Amino acid sequence: MKRISVKAENKYQVLIGDDHLDAIKRIEKEHNQVLILIPQSLRKFVKLSSSKNAHVLMLPNGEVQKDVKSANRVWRELGKLNFSRQDCIIAIGGGATTDLAGFAAATWLRGIAWYAIPTSLAAMVDASIGGKTGINADSGKNLIGSFHSPKKVIIDLKFLQTLPERDISAGMAEVIKSGFIRDPKILKLLEADVLDFEQIIYRSIKVKSKVVGRDFKESKLREILNYGHTLGHAIEKDSKYRLRHGEAVAIGLVFAAELSQILGGLSKSEVERHRSLLKAFNLPITYPKSKLATLIKIMQADKKVKAGRIRFIGLSRVGKPIWLESVSKADITRAYERIAK
Ligand SMILES: NC(=O)c1ccc[n+]([C@@H]2O[C@H](COP(=O)([O-])OP(=O)(O)OC[C@H]3O[C@@H](n4cnc5c(N)ncnc54)[C@H](O)[C@@H]3O)[C@@H](O)[C@H]2O)c1
Repeated sequence: MKRISVKAENKYQVLIGDDHLDAIKRIEKEHNQVLILIPQSLRKFVKLSSSKNAHVLMLPNGEVQKDVKSANRVWRELGKLNFSRQDCIIAIGGGATTDLAGFAAATWLRGIAWYAIPTSLAAMVDASIGGKTGINADSGKNLIGSFHSPKKVIIDLKFLQTLPERDISAGMAEVIKSGFIRDPKILKLLEADVLDFEQIIYRSIKVKSKVVGRDFKESKLREILNYGHTLGHAIEKDSKYRLRHGEAVAIGLVFAAELSQILGGLSKSEVERHRSLLKAFNLPITYPKSKLATLIKIMQADKKVKAGRIRFIGLSRVGKPIWLESVSKADITRAYERIAK
């Protein structure tokens, strides 16, 4: 088992290669009551203990669980159980579940303990790390939320065995991003004939936890984690969320690399390396030519825009992020034309 310490508002540990049932039993011993949140479709893959102080609340599957209706169901359950600050929530699921559970924990009694047991690759390397929790509002995704780190993150690698291929690929987009912004060794591990998932996950979490540890509330450095995300979020929205977050980010990564080549001097071969790695995991790398104007409009409304300027994270070379603060429409168009079909 590997361990990583994350420094946030509290210090906490990520355990990689633990068994989730053993972990749940340990957590139950530390708290009076435990409420386990889990999406319906995952229940069959999960082992739960039969202890008297553990309760289970089943959630709908996927992104729909991240709404105020589900949050209200969780709050109602916590009320029924008389949940106090000595009690805790355990989230078992993908990023939608860990986001909702963390948010419920952040808001109940102004903050109780919660534990993340992420079951998707995206949740293991990204959503459960970094303390951002939240739900979607009618007016947009992730608009309601709080910074509230878990007490521990427990990664049971066995969950990857049941995760659909498409979700493995979607998670890989964030792994690839981590490699390009901070840890080129990850790229080598991904280019190897056999994938060492434990090592890939370990190094990706290391990248995120180090960045978050230095800039928890995203005043500057944490923005590097948004590499590929400015256009990625716009594409995700334009696709009406039919594309997975990671799939939209994959296209955004190629765009950010092309923009970096134009404005930051990233070499052509490194841009091509983005394409070949993403393609190797069956991720999309192009988007329709006709969509540019719509995407620019969506990017202009993004929360990352400052004073009307669209900002991007770029690279001057692998491992060296740069802030592209005020990118002209002409440069956006040039880069987009290189990824458009
Ligand atoms: N808080 C953060 O910092 C952060 C960062 C990135 C993403 N997110 C959020 O995470 C969510 C995306 O994460 P996700 O892709 O895990 O979404 P998800 O929770 O919807 O899971 C994707 C699908 O995989 C299924 N699944 C999960 N684990 C499985 C397993 N082991 N076996 C079989 N099926 C399994 C789920 O039931 C679901 O259908 C979004 O809501 C996004 O906003 C949050």
